[in-house]
Amino acid sequence: MKLSHAQISFNASGTPVADTFTDVYFCDARGCEETDYVFVEQNNLLARWSEFKQSQPNMPFVIGETGFGTGLNFFQTCHHYKRMLEEGYSLPRLYYLSTEKFPVTPADIQQALLHYPHLLPFIEALLPQYPMPLVGCHRMQLLNGQITLDLWLGDIHDILPQWQSPQIETHASGLIDAWYLDGFAPSKNPDMWNDALFAQLARLTKPQGTLATFTAAGDVRRSLNAAGFSTKKAKGFGKKREMLSATLTELHTRESTINAHTLPYYHRAAQHTKHRPLARVKILGGGIASGCLAYLLTRQGIQVEVHCADSDIAQGASGNDLGGFYPQLNAQASHASQIHASSFVYAKRFYDQLIAQGAQFEHDWCGVFLVGFNDKVNARQHALRDAQVWPESLIRGISSAEAQAIAGVDMPYEGLLIEHGGWISPPQLVKSLLTLAIETGLCQIKTQSTLTPDQISVFTQSPAHAVIYATGASSPQLPIPPLPYRVVRGQVESAGVIPQTQALKTVLCHKGYFTPAVHGYHAMGSTYVKEDTRCDYRESEAEQNLAMHQQSLQQCAWMQEMQLPQTGRAAVRCSTPDHLPLVGALPDITQQLNDYAHLYQAKPAYTYPRAQNIAQQYILTGLGSRGLTTAPLMAEILVSQLLGQPLPVSRTIADALCPNRFLIRDGIRRLDYLARFKGNTAKE
Ligand SMILES: Cc1cc2nc3c(=O)[nH]c(=O)nc-3n(C[C@H](O)[C@H](O)[C@H](O)COP(=O)(O)OP(=O)(O)OC[C@H]3O[C@@H](n4cnc5c(N)ncnc54)[C@H](O)[C@@H]3O)c2cc1C
Ligand SMILES: C[S@@+](CC[C@H](N)C(=O)[O-])C[C@H]1O[C@@H](n2cnc3c(N)ncnc32)[C@H](O)[C@@H]1O
Repeated sequence: MKLSHAQISFNASGTPVADTFTDVYFCDARGCEETDYVFVEQNNLLARWSEFKQSQPNMPFVIGETGFGTGLNFFQTCHHYKRMLEEGYSLPRLYYLSTEKFPVTPADIQQALLHYPHLLPFIEALLPQYPMPLVGCHRMQLLNGQITLDLWLGDIHDILPQWQSPQIETHASGLIDAWYLDGFAPSKNPDMWNDALFAQLARLTKPQGTLATFTAAGDVRRSLNAAGFSTKKAKGFGKKREMLSATLTELHTRESTINAHTLPYYHRAAQHTKHRPLARVKILGGGIASGCLAYLLTRQGIQVEVHCADSDIAQGASGNDLGGFYPQLNAQASHASQIHASSFVYAKRFYDQLIAQGAQFEHDWCGVFLVGFNDKVNARQHALRDAQVWPESLIRGISSAEAQAIAGVDMPYEGLLIEHGGWISPPQLVKSLLTLAIETGLCQIKTQSTLTPDQISVFTQSPAHAVIYATGASSPQLPIPPLPYRVVRGQVESAGVIPQTQALKTVLCHKGYFTPAVHGYHAMGSTYVKEDTRCDYRESEAEQNLAMHQQSLQQCAWMQEMQLPQTGRAAVRCSTPDHLPLVGALPDITQQLNDYAHLYQAKPAYTYPRAQNIAQQYILTGLGSRGLTTAPLMAEILVSQLLGQPLPVSRTIADALCPNRFLIRDGIRRLDYLARFKGNTAKE
């Protein structure tokens, strides 16, 4: 879903003022001093950072903020963190989770912070990653990954209930070490400062976690006390007489909020804790899922061994020469659409960062044109335009004239443009990811290698070890509990360029996809053959592919002139009945079938036990036809889960990806999961 940008004016001192709230973002000319005094000092951050690694080795320090605004608080916090690193302090990784309902435009951020030149390096590092106004979490990295900013766009009252402690949610759990409670004066923004906010702050704060706010309003103090915080008044900054700081001391007050937010059957617990760090991971697989996992894990200092069953990496579905890079979006922000939108913007940022690090994989962010090629598709596309659910920078309607200019070839169709999409060479991408992982000195690749159940059981005897199955369409053959996979063969053609297609400069997408020419060929994809796992090249499917393109693009004379392709490649996709990936711990199916046998009785969720999973074993598969879009975010979710770091997606989205979701749904509908999925492929 899209949001509106903040409407900002600048007062005589050059300080930004929000037109909607008629309040300043920070104190005139002394914004950084205010941040230092109110938020950094009253949360005692610098001393806590310097000692944190001794008491909580391997754990991140997490700051929560209400109201990102211009980012001044964030940038000033980065400034202190970097200075301390340069002074030789050994600091924990920093996670900065902020919410924002009215994102400030990059231009307004630059103007607002002109008076603070020491922040410029951080602003310059962030702005290229700064998100479009799309609801959800936008994860960005600074200082080579030492600082992670999770900017959650949307209303704080929708966002905070979606944050989760990485450990089991109990009295003793928590996510946030220190809060910056900003967000305009309570009198100017009463909708934000209500009891629901304080209950969430208490639920999410770690025991003895702290909070600071510029206001000393009596209502705020009383609400904080009622939620379990011990509050203290301090002298206010500048013209303000008083401000508040607080520590979470009463834990029992949050019991009801915790229960209301826990779905025990989608329970996720970090394997890595301060007492039991994760050190080594073996990944089975050699495709894009494994590449993303190996890259992300090694960046966090984890040793990785990739076991690939084939004689080389990227021989499975990730072996096609070219693939289209774009999300699948509907007129409604369904879970599936949200996952695609978030995955796409995350993946684009991820790929741009790889390229900045010197990764070399052929790609072109040349845009993807979704052709409105018949009445039904046109009606769907118009519904999406009218719904105005997505930012225009993500997807927008274009006329046939614009389409023609963008495509560079005759294009008598209107449609939708995904301007940041394009194409990528998947095997080159996988090689780049694994090369970067190997360069850390922490990653080894073993080809023609897999692991037996005995080897896995020996390896996972150490609590510092984990195994991840990223085995694509071979997953149904694994000796692991039955999950509902759908395997679908596909063939993509290498279609020779003809003079009329030479000028094509964007990916065309209809029932299939057709890329601009690369090395003399267009990728023309692809067929769908359910439950067929053979990878032989078939002329009959080449004919089907060509016919499908010629029929969809009937009005493009140039497509009718294309010759039957002579070469191509077939591979098998792994999908699921709801078309969403499988990401998370491997469920202990026998135990869960027993524990959740009576879900259909619809008792309150918290009366059920927590999901039992197979210790230290995880899965990432089911990327279907969009692995280039979804793999990076899905890998980031799994790595964050394993390492006990904040998740880059909402609780609802993480639940929607949980590998046991079909078992739970079947329990609710009183269906026999094993009878339906025992053969490891879906019968729906
Ligand atoms: C014809 C076709 C066209 C496609 N077009 C696009 C597109 O345009 N855009 C897009 O985004 N996506 C596209 N896809 C989908 C995309 O290719 C997949 O989503 C993605 O490659 C899946 O990656 P993966 O790592 O999960 O699986 P794979 O790439 O299939 O990798 C699985 C790996 O697991 C290894 N393995 C299997 N079993 C074992 C074992 N027991 N032990 C060790 N290793 C094992 C295999 O050797 C292989 O390396 C297409 C797919 C097909 C088939
Ligand atoms: C005082 S400003 C924050 C200043 C900011 N910390 C900075 O460094 O610029 C308050 C911010 O809270 C945001 N905000 C107000 N109500 C909100 C809500 N309900 N949900 C999320 N953000 C909100 C405003 O849009 C604004 O950007």
